[in-house]
Amino acid sequence: MSLSKSARKKEAFPYGLAATAAILTAAAGVALGLSTPQAAGLRAWLDSLLAFSSAQVTWYITRAAGIIAYLLLWLSTAWGLAIPSKLLDRWLNRAFTFDFHQFISLLSLGFLGLHMFILTADRFLPYSLAQILVPFLSDYRPLWVGVGVIAFYLCALVSITYYLRQRIGMKAFRAIHYASLLAYLGATAHGIFSGTDSSLPAVFLMYTGTFLVILFLTVYWLAMALQKRKAAEVPSQ
Ligand code: HEM
Repeated sequence: MSLSKSARKKEAFPYGLAATAAILTAAAGVALGLSTPQAAGLRAWLDSLLAFSSAQVTWYITRAAGIIAYLLLWLSTAWGLAIPSKLLDRWLNRAFTFDFHQFISLLSLGFLGLHMFILTADRFLPYSLAQILVPFLSDYRPLWVGVGVIAFYLCALVSITYYLRQRIGMKAFRAIHYASLLAYLGATAHGIFSGTDSSLPAVFLMYTGTFLVILFLTVYWLAMALQKRKAAEVPSQ
């Protein structure tokens, strides 16, 4: 007899917890090992490879984490638009599409956390917690970094209300979920206007291509919704 979805989730939870604990313990072990005098040679080699001691390392990490967070947010938004339009149903079962949508949204938040909080360790332009959590306090491009802060809160709100949907009701949940499109647009403007790499042709193409996909899916979703409403208005013969 196949288990229900929630029973499967309950069953998988201890494994997830064990895996997370194992990864964290391994990471702590590696960090501890690397801090010993015996590991000086290995540290020097890793430093020559990854430039850990360079003043720019946190800047490289925030840019890389920002771009990954952006692409995951984009994928989650595109996926979220494709679900009600049933565009994926031909290839994927709905249980998977909902789980995947939830998973990539959380992954995007994870990379966002790295993108934001690594800035507190920046040696060139260190950010205070207030500058990370309160919009428009940043010394660097305050307007566009501020738009990023607002986009972050919208992402967090949409994710949190997913887990509170039984309590707040599906109507409120759906209304709040539309904010994910605003979060995506805010993150796009933030990345383009506060990002160092926006002028690179490949990065410019990334923003243009991802934005056009969302534009297409949004128009498709609206057209399908209008069609459905029209069909519902026509009295059945
Ligand atoms: C949904 C939320 C966010 C997303 C998807 C996001 C994504 C990005 C992307 C893609 C870039 C461009 C990186 C590059 O050109 O290499 C960027 C730049 C930046 N972001 Fe965010 N960000 C978000 C929120 C935030 C928040 C809350 C802060 C907090 C202060 C922040 C601080 C910065 C800074 C300082 C830069 C400039 C880094 C640079 O390129 O020199 N971002 N972000």
